[in-house]
Amino acid sequence: MSLRTIAKKVIPVKFVHWLRERGENFDKSFIRLFSGTRLTSSIYYLLFSREFGREQQAVLRGRIAYWRSLKTIEATCALLRRNTHRLEKGLIMRPRRDSFAAEYIMETVNCFRDAANAKSLNPEELQWAHDVLDEYFTIVKDTPKIARARRVWQDLHASLDTAMERTNSVPYPQRELPEATIAPEQLKTLFQRRRSVRWFKPDRVAGEIILQAFEMATLAPSACNRQPYEFYVIQEPKRAAKVANMAGGTVGFADQISNLIVVVGDLKAYPMERDRHCIYIDASLATMQLMLAFETMQISTCPINWPDIEFRERLIERELNLTAHQRPVMLLAFGYADPEGGIPYSAKKSSNILGRFIDHDHV
Ligand SMILES: Cc1cc2nc3c(=O)[nH]c(=O)nc-3n(C[C@H](O)[C@H](O)[C@H](O)COP(=O)(O)O)c2cc1C
Repeated sequence: MSLRTIAKKVIPVKFVHWLRERGENFDKSFIRLFSGTRLTSSIYYLLFSREFGREQQAVLRGRIAYWRSLKTIEATCALLRRNTHRLEKGLIMRPRRDSFAAEYIMETVNCFRDAANAKSLNPEELQWAHDVLDEYFTIVKDTPKIARARRVWQDLHASLDTAMERTNSVPYPQRELPEATIAPEQLKTLFQRRRSVRWFKPDRVAGEIILQAFEMATLAPSACNRQPYEFYVIQEPKRAAKVANMAGGTVGFADQISNLIVVVGDLKAYPMERDRHCIYIDASLATMQLMLAFETMQISTCPINWPDIEFRERLIERELNLTAHQRPVMLLAFGYADPEGGIPYSAKKSSNILGRFIDHDHV
């Protein structure tokens, strides 16, 4: 008989409850005390809780990985994406300034040069940066800094192995956007159709369908167009169930999930702490689009919470070979729904409690 079992037999249940309640009350007063200022809050998390430890380390590792990523360009480059996007915003500004981006144009041209030389950057990303830079230098008026960058750009352009032709990956007027013929009612029906489905048939979803859905998900907005996330697809049924079980919120239905996506954010997209939440926001917006895209292909989904719990983090880190700056954002079970499987009614909040019209009365 274990000590725990003996204690359970000997100590009266009422006393255990009393003790627990006292402990909770003590905890609450303790927290109230430390929450008074930012300094005392930091002391609390330094001395009494390590709940933010992993995240803090991930942010620091992300910053280091960001600087490293500028030296060794991989398939995507956060700095080039961000700066190209900033140039685009300068190009569409009303009124457009004669000279702009002087402070970061040299950095952008240098980064483009490194990316072009490395030959590892995704060709579409390189082409977009090229076209926007080309457009920028066509219209911008030189200042001393811009003129220096222009010279580097011209030399670089002349020396590119295969001369890059300008395509049309540049800003364009709103009227050129494709017409959306979807009526609000149709869209609402799609939203109503998307419910969290937890009971699936065992069938594997074809790779082409998944890629097609990713193509729709990638159209989601993201801060400075950095798209700091990846979708890890698991379709080996035992492995999918095993990873689904790691999350905790899947008790009772994890074992019949045979298609699973782990949405992973990467903090290496940021040199500063201030943007650390973008991985969660951007990845969630894309995942929402992914769910709706799947829905149009008769594939159902269930988002699954990923809690920041150390032992679970270690399990998934090992399973997917994640680095310290990669953070699981959520899991997504997907597949062909069992039509007899139940859907919780899950009443939604009504629009009048969601909206706050803060400067006028709602009519
Ligand atoms: C971020 C997120 C995490 C979720 N985590 C879980 C989960 O761990 N287990 C689960 O069964 N459902 C999970 N859900 C599904 C929610 O319970 C569900 O979205 C909510 O009840 C509303 O129902 P609906 O999706 O059918 O509209 C999650 C949903 C979101 C958006």
